[in-house]
Amino acid sequence: MLHIPGVLSREQVADMRRRLDESQWVDGRATVGTQGAKVKQNRQLPETSPLGLELGQIILTALAGNPLFFSAALPLRTIPPLFNCYAGGEHYGAHIDGSMRRIPATGQWVRTDVSSTLFLCDPDEYDGGELIVTDQYGEHEVKLPAGDLILYPSTSIHRVEPVTRGARICSFFWTQSMVRDDMRRSMLLELDQNIQSLRARLGDCPEMVGLTGHYHNLLRQWSEV
Ligand code: NI
Repeated sequence: MLHIPGVLSREQVADMRRRLDESQWVDGRATVGTQGAKVKQNRQLPETSPLGLELGQIILTALAGNPLFFSAALPLRTIPPLFNCYAGGEHYGAHIDGSMRRIPATGQWVRTDVSSTLFLCDPDEYDGGELIVTDQYGEHEVKLPAGDLILYPSTSIHRVEPVTRGARICSFFWTQSMVRDDMRRSMLLELDQNIQSLRARLGDCPEMVGLTGHYHNLLRQWSEV
């Protein structure tokens, strides 16, 4: 799991919120299978909503310029971002995201390797609504400032706790990674971050060129494009 701060600026978030506050939300069960529908209780913008597509494009543009998102997700294709709203006790019980999704406009399949939730409200605007992600080390609770993103493996079971005050508004989407395996992806991220940090201290010595080559050769071995 990785917290990526400041994916959107405060101004971008405020503009999105203003436009989302005027929009029509629909039952969130529209985008899940029968198992998810039993535990899902929230509202979403329709998948084909022109507003959703426009705001989603702003998010995709922001992500394209975010080196940490690139390094962590190694994105091949990302689904157009969706938007959801939880209020009045709404929640989403423990579930796993579907493994394959279609981009509505093109029909292209996307394997969901990495899930992202981008917070569009600040933690003090609502009570509850924590995203709880379960992995082999236990449960992780996530509630981030507006504009920040949490990235987590789509292979994990997760849930959203009931929102008992205010409203929790987020964008969420899935990415097919060039590297399918969670462990390999996290090893590449760790290697890249260590190289970046060493490079800032030592500059481009021959060993740094060797380590960078090692990163790229691993990526070449493991990527599927
Ligand atoms: Ni989910």
